[in-house]
Amino acid sequence: MQIPFLDLKVQYRQIEIELKPLIESIMAEGAFIGGPQVAAFEEEFAAFCGGGHCVGLNSGTDALRFALMAAGVGPGHEVVTVPHTFIATTEAISQAGAAPVFVDVDPETCCMDPARLREFVERSCRFDASTRRLVNQSTRRIVKGILPVHLYGQPVDMDPILAVADAYDLIVIEDACQAHGARYKGRPAGSMGRAGCFSFYPGKNLGAFGDAGAVVTRDERLAACLRMLREHGQSQKYYHDMEGYTGRLDAIQAAVLRLKLKRLADWNQARRRNAKLYDRLLAEVPGVTVVRESESAQSVYHLYVILVDDRDGLQQHLSRKGIGTGLHYPLPLHLQKAYAHMGFKKGDFPVSERLAERLLSLPMFAELSREQIEYVAGCVKEYVEGSGSKVQGTREKA
Ligand SMILES: Cc1ncc(COP(=O)(O)O)c(C=O)c1O
Repeated sequence: MQIPFLDLKVQYRQIEIELKPLIESIMAEGAFIGGPQVAAFEEEFAAFCGGGHCVGLNSGTDALRFALMAAGVGPGHEVVTVPHTFIATTEAISQAGAAPVFVDVDPETCCMDPARLREFVERSCRFDASTRRLVNQSTRRIVKGILPVHLYGQPVDMDPILAVADAYDLIVIEDACQAHGARYKGRPAGSMGRAGCFSFYPGKNLGAFGDAGAVVTRDERLAACLRMLREHGQSQKYYHDMEGYTGRLDAIQAAVLRLKLKRLADWNQARRRNAKLYDRLLAEVPGVTVVRESESAQSVYHLYVILVDDRDGLQQHLSRKGIGTGLHYPLPLHLQKAYAHMGFKKGDFPVSERLAERLLSLPMFAELSREQIEYVAGCVKEYVEGSGSKVQGTREKA
């Protein structure tokens, strides 16, 4: 059996008939940038995320960068995030002119550990109550915000993070690039901070046919600033209140996203069903430890990730069996060459490092069949039992 890690062709076939005339009409009208498709998508995606404003952009990275900038993050500031994420999270902080600061992740959720965040704020920073400024004592920079990442479609434990933000006047920008439709205590990912940032990279749960992204926010002024930033800082055509960027969502991508958005809840549900089946099958493997999805979380399983001691051996075994897998992510950011100037060493963020060595992403998409999942789980079992390795799976509540 051949099982790809992700199959975008099967998803395309579901929207093909509706999409083709739509794209033709956009081409015939010649309205490629902005226009009714973009406006309608923004309205529909804001509603999907629980209300407020949506600003369509050209990538998730720009969504993060512009959201930080619009929220007043810039030079001299620090933003707290995690080393166990895709580099776009920290690129956005640096490109906004600020510096990323890391706190480790929780080994069960693989997301920001709220206890580590509080420890950083209370042990390494000083809060000046008169200026309401939090200053990192070792760098002397102002800590301006927190950037939690809802990784793998799994929502971060947000309440304790929002409590820290409240106590110390910090801005919260959510990286929801992998979490379209995920919920925390009933609240949609991306709706809990000042702004939620989404990527519509083709492989995401809601994916365009190229690069695309968006910010969702209830803050009208922030949304207005984002609209200027995406369009060269102009408030009206050729009148520029500031310098901005070419950061718009285009009409063809918006049309694709609108068609897929109608199906997203069903697709997310199917991913959850698939994850539950994986959970059940892998829980039967001796030596397997299942990490439960917290009671308050509803993951949308952008990725289905297991932990295994002999990860490289298992990956090769699955490849020989025709199964595609991925590593998300093999090296934590604090150990990347790009951040060598920060001076971190192995051991500084042990939970992230341990995850990076053991994580393996198994095939996950809505259209996976029961037989395919059984085959993958069977091959994992075969290898793990054969090699005596220990596996841990991320699992949702029963
Ligand atoms: C966690 C995370 N943040 C940010 C991004 C950046 O999104 P984009 O690739 O659309 O710029 C991604 C996408 O890969 C992501 O997974």
